[in-house]
Amino acid sequence: MAEPGPLLGRGRDADVYDLGPGRVLRRYRDPGASAEREAAVMVHARAHGLPVPEVFDVDGPDLVMARVEGPTMLAAVLRRPWTITRQATVLAELHRAVHAVPAPDLLDRRTGPGDALLHLDLHPENVLLTPSGPVIIDWTNAARGTAEVDVADAWLVMSAARVPGPAVVAAAVRAAQGVFPRQFRRAAGLDLAAALPTAAARRLADRNLGEQERRRIRRLAGLPLSARPGSPEPS
Ligand SMILES: Nc1ncnc2c1ncn2[C@@H]1O[C@H](COP(=O)(O)OP(=O)(O)O)[C@@H](O)[C@H]1O
Ligand SMILES: [Mg+2]
Repeated sequence: MAEPGPLLGRGRDADVYDLGPGRVLRRYRDPGASAEREAAVMVHARAHGLPVPEVFDVDGPDLVMARVEGPTMLAAVLRRPWTITRQATVLAELHRAVHAVPAPDLLDRRTGPGDALLHLDLHPENVLLTPSGPVIIDWTNAARGTAEVDVADAWLVMSAARVPGPAVVAAAVRAAQGVFPRQFRRAAGLDLAAALPTAAARRLADRNLGEQERRRIRRLAGLPLSARPGSPEPS
């Protein structure tokens, strides 16, 4: 695989490098990880008309795809807070478009009944805004299931997360965090009651989740505040 150029983005499990004209390399830091499944899901999603970067090559932990030019939806909303309602509606429309696609056969991971394609990390940091429209990235968590679980997942993440950053933007982020998830949930128009505990359980299985976030997710999903009812939250 080609030698990577400058680092463009750094996430929890992968780094994204510039690969020259129109291409980026997304490389898992675990050299034993495979991006094959993720690449296949992206190809499937694109073939069904979803706005997803074109995949050029996949090799073990390396995935080469089209470079998308544009800020994340989160960056765009922080820069132009007056677009918040519109962007939350766009995100809900992206969810709807994803869930209209049948899950590919290779997706045997299930989150309850249903056979829709789910992204399961479809929040404003995984949408890049280009002049020709929004593009969905970061398909690591894709699964098969019901739309409600995906919408519930995004709603929980957006409502519970504390976006790190300088104090000057903290106030803007807090203000946005009240409005954005509410508008997103309204625009999605689904009844999330049954899906929230499922979505929360998935998120809570993540060992890296901070204690505060854990508590917020439990509260938002209406779960008991400690893992075992009656026992104190471990510190
Ligand atoms: N196809 C792409 N084109 C341009 N930038 C990208 C592309 N894919 C990812 N990036 C950049 O890398 C960052 C992290 O990518 P992402 O796939 O969301 O991985 P993770 O969140 O796991 O780190 C994105 O926020 C974006 O800045
Ligand atoms: Mg991401």
